[in-house]
Amino acid sequence: MSVDTTKLIRDQIEYYRSRSSEYDEWFYRIGRYDRGQENNDRWFVEVETVQKALREIGQVNQVLELASGTGIWTEQLLQISTKIEAIDASAETIAINQNKLNSDKVTYQHRDIFTWEPEQEYDLVFFSFWLSHVPPDLLQSFFNKVYLATRKGGQIFIIDSRNDSTSRAKDHLPEQDGIYQTRKLNDGREFKIAKIFYQPDELQTLLVNAGFTADVRVTETYFIYAHGWKSN
Ligand SMILES: C[S@@+](CC[C@H](N)C(=O)[O-])C[C@H]1O[C@@H](n2cnc3c(N)ncnc32)[C@H](O)[C@@H]1O
Repeated sequence: MSVDTTKLIRDQIEYYRSRSSEYDEWFYRIGRYDRGQENNDRWFVEVETVQKALREIGQVNQVLELASGTGIWTEQLLQISTKIEAIDASAETIAINQNKLNSDKVTYQHRDIFTWEPEQEYDLVFFSFWLSHVPPDLLQSFFNKVYLATRKGGQIFIIDSRNDSTSRAKDHLPEQDGIYQTRKLNDGREFKIAKIFYQPDELQTLLVNAGFTADVRVTETYFIYAHGWKSN
């Protein structure tokens, strides 16, 4: 891991720790993320499309949710699973998730995914709006972990962003240097993070190379999502 990658990982964790109490404004299109009725309506219709696709995978037993955040998708996973192990590097977001869901079906691990090693296999490995933050030089080792954490015949489900400006805050700074973006908090503090927008064919190739059979889809404007299986 290069020095820059180590710094990026640290900065990303710091950004999400600092953003934890305002994080949900992005998903629920509030404040700086309110992009007008038409865009907001489209967003929620597309959210429903992805939620439906997740429900359609059917009931599973053990789920691993990586970078679980404030629980927006943990809540959805609760509807289709028996037990969830949720990992996140921010104690602040874990606390929000825990208070929101208040479920003894969910256990939490306060861990940096890049130093974490899977200790068991799960029926479903899920991560939303996380892959786009995985630095390119750690992508391979990240997917090795995902592979090891998925039982044979088990599934993965991934959700992430498409590159549409109305997905981001109104005061989002124009893109500067490729995959690195400056993100602001409500109080104006700025952080540098990686945000990589995958095209469906790129994600498909990534998943096949990682050992999964995959079905990658996009919604009209905002989301890319993938359902995969580990066949051997
Ligand atoms: C964009 S949020 C996604 C949260 C959630 N999955 C969702 O869809 O709402 C990214 C999450 O990754 C977590 N995170 C950032 N760096 C991490 C790391 N190195 N290891 C584990 N979690 C990390 C943050 O704390 C944050 O909760």
